[in-house]
Amino acid sequence: MPISDLGLDKTLAALGVAQASQVPALFAEVRAHFEGHFKTVHDESEWKMFRDRWLGRKSGVLTQITENWLKPATPELKRAVGASLNELRAYVETQIEARRTAIESGAEEAALARGRIDLSLPGVIRPVGSRHLIRQVFQEIEDIFFSIGFSIVEGPEIETPYYNFEALNIPEFHPVRDDMDTFYIDLPKGAPGQLLLRTHTSPMQIRTMEKRKPPVRIIVPGKVYRRDNPDATHSFIFHQVEGLAVDSDITFCDFTGTIEYFVKQFFGPSVKTRFRPSYFPFTEPSVEFDVSCPFCSGTGSSAGGGTCSKCKGAAWIELFGAGMVDPAVYGFVNYDAKKVSGFAFGMGVDRLAMLKYGIDDIQVFFQNDVRFLRQFP
Ligand code: FA5
Repeated sequence: MPISDLGLDKTLAALGVAQASQVPALFAEVRAHFEGHFKTVHDESEWKMFRDRWLGRKSGVLTQITENWLKPATPELKRAVGASLNELRAYVETQIEARRTAIESGAEEAALARGRIDLSLPGVIRPVGSRHLIRQVFQEIEDIFFSIGFSIVEGPEIETPYYNFEALNIPEFHPVRDDMDTFYIDLPKGAPGQLLLRTHTSPMQIRTMEKRKPPVRIIVPGKVYRRDNPDATHSFIFHQVEGLAVDSDITFCDFTGTIEYFVKQFFGPSVKTRFRPSYFPFTEPSVEFDVSCPFCSGTGSSAGGGTCSKCKGAAWIELFGAGMVDPAVYGFVNYDAKKVSGFAFGMGVDRLAMLKYGIDDIQVFFQNDVRFLRQFP
């Protein structure tokens, strides 16, 4: 029976209740309703509606009983209605309060359960990163040169044309600049001079010799930029390690011996090396340095009998440019070209890494694909 059928908005007379003996049955029905409602209350918002429905001052069930049943009741009924109403009020108030306590402690329990840490659960596994292969190869190169007395210096990736070209004996209209014409920085109007992204680590030869007197023995690991079209062996960002040794008595033999030592340490003792004449404006004589192809052990043939795909049958792979420092360069750093001599080299780290670890596309170094990176933990 819906609560509206209880006749709370009617007087007892209108409900046909004239005898005190009828009153307890009437209140029993009200109480039955209360108990039914009580069972549906499970959380705080339901509890508030429940409380207001029964105890609300204006239109709660008890207020309606007071206003419509008690107040207009005949003197004979008033006593019985008053007694039953008091009893009902005490019951309703106690139960509503008990429900509130139960809901609060239940909510607390639930909150506690939510906050509780289950130490037996397996932990969250966070993958541990590792150094990029290029960084690892930098480290290998640095360790080798460190062991023979070279120290490490680093320099700016944003350079002036003076350090990137002119002080390296590459004047403004020298054709060699065509190969290295590069990324220039947009500067505000009126800025003094130009700035560019360095195309090689060689500017650090000049910056170091400007600051230090001979003997100088340094390597310069770093990032360089060139407007080269990307392919399997070219990237517009790549990495170099520059080397420079200048002293009063450095000979071509020191130069070749140092380079060969490095290559055998890096690739292993069985690798063969060769120098070919080349040209750089800042070294004289200049060489290109080749190693016997590590993929076909310098035979030019693949295991299956065909042509080695890496060296294309040449048996040799070009590694880097180098040479004895051109005396003209000493003029830019106030060294006496008659008293000092030295050698310099600039190796492409990405290509060294490709050769040593059998990688056939330089682009994988820059794609950040973890499936590739995970192979070199
Ligand atoms: C130079 O950059 C000279 N500064 C090297 C040098 C230093 C010579 C000191 C003499 C004395 P080169 O342009 O050849 O030279 O570049 C050196 C190496 O960088 C190359 O042998 C190659 O391994 C690598 N390299 C050049 N261009 C790219 C490119 N686009 N992507 C990846 N590696 C490259």
